[in-house]
Amino acid sequence: MSKPRILVARAVFPETLALLERHFEVEANQADAAWSRQELIARLQGKAGVFTTGGERIDAELLGACPDLKICANMAVGFNNFDLPAMTARRVLGTNTPDVLTETTADFGFALLMATARRLTESEHFLRAGLWNKWTIDLFAGSDVHGSTLGILGMGRIGQGIARRGAHGFGMDVIYHNRSRLSPQLESECKARYVGKEELLKTADHLVLVLPYSAESHHAIGAPELALMKPTATLVNIARGGIVDDAALAQALRDKRIAAAGLDVYEGEPKVHPDLLTVPNVVLTPHIASATVPTRKAMAKLAAENLVGFLVNGRPLTALNPEVLA
Ligand code: GLV
Repeated sequence: MSKPRILVARAVFPETLALLERHFEVEANQADAAWSRQELIARLQGKAGVFTTGGERIDAELLGACPDLKICANMAVGFNNFDLPAMTARRVLGTNTPDVLTETTADFGFALLMATARRLTESEHFLRAGLWNKWTIDLFAGSDVHGSTLGILGMGRIGQGIARRGAHGFGMDVIYHNRSRLSPQLESECKARYVGKEELLKTADHLVLVLPYSAESHHAIGAPELALMKPTATLVNIARGGIVDDAALAQALRDKRIAAAGLDVYEGEPKVHPDLLTVPNVVLTPHIASATVPTRKAMAKLAAENLVGFLVNGRPLTALNPEVLA
């Protein structure tokens, strides 16, 4: 019997490709060529599955043009590149890679928070530029992390990981806002207190964004929200571009409306709002929160296993719309 045909949209680890090739006839993209949408659609003809990495938009138009497609396996926990209702309507399964990246991403959220509060990159640039020629009492004085109030917007698995780090490791007072409240047991494990969004904005010394992107969370942090924050506060976004209004944030940083920001994600990335590149009080990283070698390998393996699980055994591991399996 011939093997199902799949497309791997981006370069992946050799072991991921080897795993897929045991079960499928694979068209890969190990050169990591940037395919246009039309090229992606052309390559998807006759393919039952696609391995995506978060940048490929899967919507009704693409699905209509790719009638053989049965599963889109995203190598990411976020899946805002999927129009899930359109996929469900066409009985196309979507999968993502939760859990395997939770702790690594929470580590990074904390790293970005520390770097932002303690002005790590700004001070390093100063040193590298040869500008350090004397001791000064307030040289790159930042804000304390330990003992401060940590606000978390979006309290899924990663948010909870950040709360645990803050509460147990740094003695922080943790407050959070989320669509739904955690169970009393999880609140007590995370030592986190539920508050309204306005209180979160007004009270947090450090505000970390970990909520999924959707039409409702678009510009959840814009000029009005930034205006509510403390002028000494820091803002960290490891969630998705578009949750923050980047132009409004750049203005708030320039005006010192808030003290500093740490960003791993951007509206329209990999482009970055030009004003963010010129303000000094922002730490900028290129969407790397889950980027450790073991975690990226675990994410790739899980995405591949979802393709195998569904197309070979009928049992995907982490289905987003399991109703299409019924
Ligand atoms: C990364 O941003 C992810 O969603 O996994």
